[in-house]
Amino acid sequence: MSTTGTAPTVTIASIGQYEGQTVTLRGWLYNIRSSGKLLFPTFRDGSGTIQGIVPKAAVPEEVFNTLKELQLESSLTVTGKVRADSRAPSGYELDVENIEVISAVSADEPFPITLKEHGVDFLMEHRHLWLRTPRQSAILRVRATIMRAAAEYFDTNGFIRTDPPILTPNACEGTSELFEMDYFDDDKAYLTQSGQLYIEATALALGKVYSFGPTFRAEKSKTRRHLTEFWMIEPEVAHLQLDGVMDLAEAFITHIVTRVLEQHRADLKVIGRDITKLEAVIAPTSAPPSVIPSEASTSTSGVIPSEAASAAESRNPRISPEAPQSSAPTPESVILSEGAAEVEGSAVKPATNRFPRLTYEEAHAMLEKAYAEGKIENPHKYGDDFGSPDETYISSQFDKPVMVNRYPAAIKAFYMQPDPVDPTKALCVDVLAPEGYGEIIGGSQRVDSYDLLKQRIEDHNLPLDAFKWYLDLRKYGSVPHAGFGMGIERAVAWICGLDHVRETIPFARTLNRIYP
Ligand code: 4AD
Ligand code: MG
Repeated sequence: MSTTGTAPTVTIASIGQYEGQTVTLRGWLYNIRSSGKLLFPTFRDGSGTIQGIVPKAAVPEEVFNTLKELQLESSLTVTGKVRADSRAPSGYELDVENIEVISAVSADEPFPITLKEHGVDFLMEHRHLWLRTPRQSAILRVRATIMRAAAEYFDTNGFIRTDPPILTPNACEGTSELFEMDYFDDDKAYLTQSGQLYIEATALALGKVYSFGPTFRAEKSKTRRHLTEFWMIEPEVAHLQLDGVMDLAEAFITHIVTRVLEQHRADLKVIGRDITKLEAVIAPTSAPPSVIPSEASTSTSGVIPSEAASAAESRNPRISPEAPQSSAPTPESVILSEGAAEVEGSAVKPATNRFPRLTYEEAHAMLEKAYAEGKIENPHKYGDDFGSPDETYISSQFDKPVMVNRYPAAIKAFYMQPDPVDPTKALCVDVLAPEGYGEIIGGSQRVDSYDLLKQRIEDHNLPLDAFKWYLDLRKYGSVPHAGFGMGIERAVAWICGLDHVRETIPFARTLNRIYP
């Protein structure tokens, strides 16, 4: 709060604290209606909107006339008295006493976005201005909280943030979707598709790590879910296995949705989101859903015993005997148990709202049945990835995100560990958001054997040279490890209930658009 004259300068979001007082707002004219000798301007300041009331008799004539002629989105300061009004969307109105125009929009070139309906192409072409409208601003506020909550989850659970490079010499997620650029002296560089390979290295250095940054895919797909530039948050944990990754993803998503519900009920209302759908996601379930496969029987605990680690210390010349070891992350700091992603030093309770877990086989069987009953149009071919209508059907069976695990290895990335029970399957998981929003998280346990990884790289026709360092990770103290990546925009689309990811990021980059 600062002061102009005697009135404190406040934000619309905090205006409730100043009921009955005269305050100053700095903002823009969002809308205005007039009714004879009354003006009803709506102001916005980035934190919200508020309606003002301006009776001709109550203000200097000049103020009334200026406001009456003022074009939308002109910037101004407004001084007025805050009055509670239960009919107002924000609960308050402003009895305007004075305005000062900072920059008036010309009547010859009015603000192009009006309150009438505009086509999406027009709005995207004017994205720099569209962002000013209440719904778009609300989405960006929720996005900011999703990003903060996502980082907060890892920061408060003992993960170290390690930032992978954006310019890389090799592909992570398939060579057909790479943005290539020249990199001095005839070399090529590629914009990163995922930080995963690099945070596998930092995980083997630090134990539990995450990365959070922009990622790029030269996707030629024009779907509602694909951007060419998007933000991904990726945890990677040494000694973690597939069941642990699913526990982690569940606790992580629960934390994010909890924070959004705590902080953004008003924004979700502006966006038009059905909040009960989000409440269902974090509501505890007492018993695990019946569809959970007996994962516990295929891997004992997810944690690899590592007494060897301390025994090795005295033989390692790099570890000074004086160096205190107690604060260093240890493999034991990852505690895995059924239904709990609790990690040592965690401020977060174990997730009790168990998300349903389905194997690929089970999901396929569910789709076969749905097809037989005429509930989906096309049959799902066993061995293929799930199409968007398949994912929509699967997710519509549950009110929480569904964790589909153990896909055929043939349709998944080269780095995924085969399932020991059936090596044609990969130890991977896709988390499908409810209500047909599709995949928001992709994760897996990584191949930890040198020979198998080398074989995989060769089988996928990837250049061994570029992966030499990645193979080194399997040469020097390899351990089972696992992680996942969540695309922020997919999460925002789901949590805000948006049709298309283009509204989830300030300036979307898609196949057809790189302007503004
Ligand atoms: O499933 P993906 O391709 O997995 C990886 O990149 C792994 N390396 C992550 C890991 O294990 N560390 O991508 C992960 C997530 C997807 O689930 C989706 O949310 C998002 O990234 N994503 C996209 N979001 C928007 N536009 C695109 N083109 C996206 N491609 C992936
Ligand atoms: Mg994926």
